[in-house]
Amino acid sequence: MCGIVGYIGEKNAVPILLEGLSKLEYRGYDSAGISFLDESTGSGQLKVIKREGRLSVLESAIPEGTSARLGIGHTRWATHGVPSFVNAHPHFDCTHEIVLVHNGIIENYRELKEKLLAGGHVFTSETDTEVIAHLIEEYYEEDIEFAVKAALNEVKGAYAIAALSLRERDRIIAARMGSPLIIGLGEGENFLASDIPAVLKYTRRIIFLDEREVAVITKDEVHISTFRNTRVEREPVTITWDETMAAKDGYEHFMLKEILEQPRALQQTISQYVCPDGKFSFEHMDLGEDTARELNRVFIIACGTSLHAGMVGKYWIEQFCGIPVEVDYASEFRYRSPLISERDLAVVISQSGETADTLAALRLSAERTKHTLGIVNVLGSTITREARHTIYTHAGPEIGVASTKAFTTQLAALLILSLHLGKLRGSIGRHELTLHQKQLSDLPQLLETALSMQERIEETAKSLAGYSDFLFLGRNMNFPIALEGALKLKEISYLHAEAYPAGEMKHGPIALIDERMPTIAVATGSHVQEKMFSNIQEIKARRGLVAGIINTGDSKAREIMDFCLEVPETQEYLMPLLNIIPMQLLAYYIARDRGCDIDKPRNLAKSVTVE
Ligand code: M6R
Repeated sequence: MCGIVGYIGEKNAVPILLEGLSKLEYRGYDSAGISFLDESTGSGQLKVIKREGRLSVLESAIPEGTSARLGIGHTRWATHGVPSFVNAHPHFDCTHEIVLVHNGIIENYRELKEKLLAGGHVFTSETDTEVIAHLIEEYYEEDIEFAVKAALNEVKGAYAIAALSLRERDRIIAARMGSPLIIGLGEGENFLASDIPAVLKYTRRIIFLDEREVAVITKDEVHISTFRNTRVEREPVTITWDETMAAKDGYEHFMLKEILEQPRALQQTISQYVCPDGKFSFEHMDLGEDTARELNRVFIIACGTSLHAGMVGKYWIEQFCGIPVEVDYASEFRYRSPLISERDLAVVISQSGETADTLAALRLSAERTKHTLGIVNVLGSTITREARHTIYTHAGPEIGVASTKAFTTQLAALLILSLHLGKLRGSIGRHELTLHQKQLSDLPQLLETALSMQERIEETAKSLAGYSDFLFLGRNMNFPIALEGALKLKEISYLHAEAYPAGEMKHGPIALIDERMPTIAVATGSHVQEKMFSNIQEIKARRGLVAGIINTGDSKAREIMDFCLEVPETQEYLMPLLNIIPMQLLAYYIARDRGCDIDKPRNLAKSVTVE
C-alpha cells in the first residue's frame, strides 16, 4: 500500500521518478506526487508537485523542461485522510526545508501531532505522515540522518519513508520499519523503491533494507545503519527478473498477460524443485528427515488468494503426509492464541512477502516453533528473510492487483512441498513419487489446453455480465477454487459473489437461488462429482442458471449445464490447478465487459502492508 521511489544521479530525476511510480501504481492510486531539487527554474528549491487521482494526472501537471538530479516520489493508497490534493504526498515540514514520503501507518500520530501543534508546528494535511516531517524538523540541526533517526525513535507503527533536505543536497535518507524498501545500485546513480519492478529498467543489483534500518543514499554510495547507529554491511543481490517481465507486452491488461503466462510460470516453479533425476532440490528449505517425521501438525497461514492456495494445500498435505493441517486467515491467527508448538510447522504463503498480517502471523509462530516456512514470490522480501525456510514460487513479477499466476504457482509449490514431506516421512513410496512427479510435469501443457478455451469463456462472460449476484460452488479441494473464483469476480468487477461448499447449499444459501442468480459450479471428474451433479440439479429445479466447469468430453456434465467451461482431464488431485483457469478468465471478461479498471480495482492495492 503506497509506493515510494527515489533517484539520485546525473540523469534527470523527474522522468525516472514518474516511470518508477508507474510500476508501483498497483500499490495505490488515490494520488501521486514527486519532490525534487529544482534545477529548471534556477531556484534550487525543494519543489513538490502532487495531484489527487492517477499518476497520469500528475504527469500532465509537470511543466515541460522540469529537471533535477535528485528526487523522491509517491503513489498513495489512502489510510489517514481522504484522497485529495492536500493529503497527497510528499509532505513538507514548517520550514519547507524537509520533504517526505511515507508508506505505512503511524499509530501514535495523534499524540505526536498534539505535541507538535502545541510546539507551534503548522499542519497542512490530515495525514499521519506529516507528523514525521515535523518531528524531523524538531531534531534537525545539521545532520538529516541524525534527525530522521531521532524522529523515528518516537514513532510507533509501520513505515517506509524517504526524505530530502534542502540543506543536504547530495543525499536521500530512507528508513524502514514494517514496510518494504529496496535500493537499486547503479553506476554513479542510485535508486530507491518500494518494490523491484520500479528500478528494473536501470539495475538488477538490489539491496533489501531491513527492519529498523536507515540508508543514506548518495549518487556514489549507500550507507546503511540501524536506528541505534550500528553500521550494516550488506552485499547487493542480483535478481533474475528483467524489465520486460514487468511490462504489459501489448496486452490490454496485466491480468490477462499474467493469466496467459501461467503455463510458463508453472514450468518455472516445477523445474526449480523437481530435478530430471526425480529428486527434489530445495535451496532454501532443508527440513530434514527427522524433523519431517516428528512433525505434529502443519499450520498454513495467509490472506486472500494465498489463503485459498493454502486451503488446497491442506488436502494435499493431509493426503500425502498424514499430518493434520490447520488453515487460518493471518488476520485472525495473530489475534487468537493459536495452539502452535515446537513440533509444528508454520507455513506462511504470500505473493509479495510483505503482507502485514501474514508477517505478524509468521513472527508469532516463530516465537513458538523454529519450523517456519515461507512460500513467497518476491525475492528478498521480508517473509523470506524472517522465515527459517523459503520456497520461492518463481512466478516472475505479478503486477495485476488480482492474483492469478501467483496462485497457480503457490499451488504447485504446496504440492511439491506435500510430496517432499511425504517422501521424508515415508508416507509416499518411491514408485508413487515418480508417478506424481511425472503427472506434475505434464501440468504446464494441460494448463495451455485449458487456456485455449479463452474465446469460449469470453462468449460465456458476455451472457453473464448483466447479472449482479453470483454463487460459486465446489466440493472437496475444489471448494477453495470456488472461493478463489468468487474473489476474482468480486475484486475486479464489483459484483456480488459468494462461495460455498456445494453440500452446504441446503443449509441456507439455496434460499438465494432464482433466475437472477447464476451459479458457477466446479463439476469436473472427482469422487464427489455425482454429489455435485445432485446439487446442481437442485439449483436448476429452482430456475437457477448454472455455468459448470467440466472436463472436455464429459457428456453427462454437459447435459446438466446451461454453460460449459471446459478443462482437460487429469488426476483428481491436480484438477484445482486447471479448474481455476476458467474462473480467472470468466472474471476477467465479465469485468472487461462491464468496463471496470481491471488492473487497478477501486479501493484495493496489491501489497497490503498495513493492517
Ligand atoms: O502478497 P500476498 O499474497 O500476501 O497478498 C495477499 C492478498 O492480499 C492477495 O492475495 C489478494 O487477496 C489478491 N489481490 C487477490 O487477488
